[in-house]
Amino acid sequence: STPSSSPPPSSSPAPASHLIGRKEDIVKAGRLIKTVNGCREILVLYHQGTLHAMDLRCYHAGGPLQHGDIEEFNGRLCIVCPWHKYKITLAEGEGLYQAVDDPTVKPLRTHWRSKGVKQRMHKVTEVKGSVYVTLNDCSEAIESDVYQTERYRTGSIQA
Ligand code: FES
Repeated sequence: STPSSSPPPSSSPAPASHLIGRKEDIVKAGRLIKTVNGCREILVLYHQGTLHAMDLRCYHAGGPLQHGDIEEFNGRLCIVCPWHKYKITLAEGEGLYQAVDDPTVKPLRTHWRSKGVKQRMHKVTEVKGSVYVTLNDCSEAIESDVYQTERYRTGSIQA
């Protein structure tokens, strides 16, 4: 856009933000896949009044998270990868799993534990009905980064 048509600074998101679309459209669709920065494929989803953005492919083996169900585990909302049912928290991108307290005690008793942040989550901002995503530029490697390389981008994703 030309400088004259730019919105005033007070209503613009930070320069590193990428326009995803109108909020009402995303709410209607529920989920949206978008390539940001020409290379990063992200999933934007709307769930229970909140927008979330994350790397599109699951950190485990590149599964298509756009087809994952959203469920609560241990009080935390997670997207469940359709391929091997890994659970990823929507808030932080943590991998959750059920740990066995003591394998010698039957029946087995388990509790939920976190493997730490495994899926790169991105920041979503809403400005006047438009939704923007700011890529999470944390320099530490996150496991889902692997599936953002050329090798995985070239083919289209199959469910
Ligand atoms: Fe997602 Fe295996 S690829 S759980």
